[in-house]
Amino acid sequence: MTTSTQDAPRTTTGAAKISVRDTRKTFALKDEEFVALDGVNLDVADNEFVTVVGPSGCGKSTLMNIVAGLEAPTSGQVLVDGAGVTGPGPERGVIFQQYALFPWLTVRKNVEFGLKVAGLPAAERRERAEHYVRLVGLEQFADALPKTLSGGMKQRCAIARAYAVNPSILLMDEPFGALDALTRVRLQEQLLDTWSTEKRTVLFITHDVDEAVFLAGRVVVMAARPGRIHEVIDVDLPYPRTEEVRLSPEFAELRNRVWRAVYHQTTDTQTSTQTQN
Ligand SMILES: Nc1ncnc2c1ncn2[C@@H]1O[C@H](COP(=O)(O)OP(=O)(O)OP(=O)(O)O)[C@@H](O)[C@H]1O
Ligand SMILES: [Mg+2]
Repeated sequence: MTTSTQDAPRTTTGAAKISVRDTRKTFALKDEEFVALDGVNLDVADNEFVTVVGPSGCGKSTLMNIVAGLEAPTSGQVLVDGAGVTGPGPERGVIFQQYALFPWLTVRKNVEFGLKVAGLPAAERRERAEHYVRLVGLEQFADALPKTLSGGMKQRCAIARAYAVNPSILLMDEPFGALDALTRVRLQEQLLDTWSTEKRTVLFITHDVDEAVFLAGRVVVMAARPGRIHEVIDVDLPYPRTEEVRLSPEFAELRNRVWRAVYHQTTDTQTSTQTQN
């Protein structure tokens, strides 16, 4: 029996789906080096839902871009399924805050886009797109162009598009940030529904502490200057996250704890932007 394998080395921490190792990211400014991330270590398990909160500028998007393979770390590395990330990959679906839809394509064609790139035959593309368009409740708008949709609908389209290519990992950078409170709550519930029926590993960035607790199994609180992990808080609340869970004293307690973790470090490190949160 042969034991040789061409696979990349496995993680030493077990079955982490995403493993961020000693990651540092610096940007060259005029006369100095700006440290956007320093010493970041984070393991996300398969099918885990992790949210990341922290003050503006603490490196959340930088971290996500590195995991997405859109930016390279200055040192350290990110492993996905045990293999080093060197660029974007189809197993990682990315959803940005700004609805990154193709304006000239209809909802259906936007959702089909990645499937076309992946070389799926037309009939299968259509079937899959239909499924995900329905999943996010946009079936009546399948033939509409993005400019005719509301912000929430555009974002649901972006979610359907990311889901359609069947990525095992979803990387979401403040996807609901620009939405009104009601749409936001609806999309949170929809996302959790989808997550529980079509299991994914999710790394979800948000400014909103309630959202961070409502969605996650773990909340990662980051701190700024340099960007780093300040605290990781387990959210020991049952799924499905019903309204009852949202209104429970346990939820309130966790929300307060996360809020304090963000707020107290904010007062330590920030001067002008702290009231944003
Ligand atoms: N390309 C770049 N060149 C120089 N500095 C950068 C660059 N990208 C990010 N930065 C700096 O790195 C820090 C982290 O930025 P990042 O966008 O990751 O923060 P963030 O936590 O996502 O903030 P926000 O909550 O406002 O979205 C910021 O101070 C930012 O100015
Ligand atoms: Mg950001």
